Amino acid sequence: MVTLVAENLRKTYGRTVAVDSVSFEIPEGALVTFLGPSGCGKTTTLRMVAGLEKPDSGLIKLGADVVYDSASGVAVPAERREIGMVFQSYAIWPHMTVANNVAFPLKIRRMPSSDIARLVTDALKLVQLDAYADRYPSQLSGGQQQRVALARAIVFQPRILLLDEPLSNLDAKLREEMRGEIRDLQLRLGITTLFVTHDQDEALSLSDLVAVMHEGRIVQVGGPREIYEHPKTRFVANFVGWTNFLSAELIDRKTARVQGKKFEVAGKDLNPGGAVHLAIRPEDVLVEENQTSISNVLDGRVRTSMFMGSYTVVEIEVDGSLLIAHAPPQTNLRRGDSVRALLPRDRLLVLSA
Ligand SMILES: Nc1ncnc2c1ncn2[C@@H]1O[C@H](COP(=O)(O)OP(=O)(O)O)[C@@H](O)[C@H]1O
Ligand SMILES: [Mg+2]
Repeated sequence: MVTLVAENLRKTYGRTVAVDSVSFEIPEGALVTFLGPSGCGKTTTLRMVAGLEKPDSGLIKLGADVVYDSASGVAVPAERREIGMVFQSYAIWPHMTVANNVAFPLKIRRMPSSDIARLVTDALKLVQLDAYADRYPSQLSGGQQQRVALARAIVFQPRILLLDEPLSNLDAKLREEMRGEIRDLQLRLGITTLFVTHDQDEALSLSDLVAVMHEGRIVQVGGPREIYEHPKTRFVANFVGWTNFLSAELIDRKTARVQGKKFEVAGKDLNPGGAVHLAIRPEDVLVEENQTSISNVLDGRVRTSMFMGSYTVVEIEVDGSLLIAHAPPQTNLRRGDSVRALLPRDRLLVLSA
């Protein structure tokens, strides 16, 4: 197992800067997720690490081994980097059995066939497919095909594992199951892993560290809880579920003015006098039908109220903006009803605008 280090990676396609000054370190045995919207440079970063894409500049190290360095001209080819990869499209061969698919990386390494048989069996056991060795991919479910791809990626004991949206083609329930399986496998093997996804739940649940990417750059790195609770910018906040944003002015470190009203806030890191955004999660907005609270409230009207089973989504129009609340399931509101939205002080995030 090795540490993966990247320094100042940059990759352009014509005028498009796909990846810009990206530096990171994935400690030995850790799983780090790159989280970001489509087009932010996740796949390009991963392909540069794999050796499938040549960076314009930068450095990539696996442990003490420099595999790419634009300054000294080092560029180890992909097949000699000893990296396991899994793609969104499973990329397994339809005309080969499960066992032959998994054996492929060993055959191209010219391993003796007795060793191949043993390693393939071990890898298939790890992904619980040992009973399916002789089947063809068309005889497997999507989740099983993805596990074949996983077995093929780990069978040759790679130094690191790269996974590019490996679960995106699976339906929701299977995706959650496979998420747990991948994490379990990664922990058992103790393999350094870079996992790419646009799905915040996936990133938060799987990772030791999450690196949020935006427009070719890493904008915040932290543990899942830190990213979820303390996003540093509006972009990161929005990406991890802080869907409500209100423009405000910070009067002092404990007070902000929102739509002409004073709100109690905890803006301890910001200088008063400036424009800020207040953010709050839908599950933290309290919808009051009877008007009781006096501070941190906004008056509004219900635009829609949608029963979701375990909660009710209420969209509230307040002074030109829309506030989304997840109210208790028994909430019984109709379009046009007057309501008050309470935004509790300890649930408000204050971000510089
Ligand atoms: N081979 C390519 N040729 C031209 N542009 C590319 C190529 N690959 C990626 N890009 C562009 O680089 C940017 C980053 O793409 P990508 O790394 O695939 O993002 P992500 O995986 O986060 O969706 C996008 O603007 C994309 O259109
Ligand atoms: Mg991609």
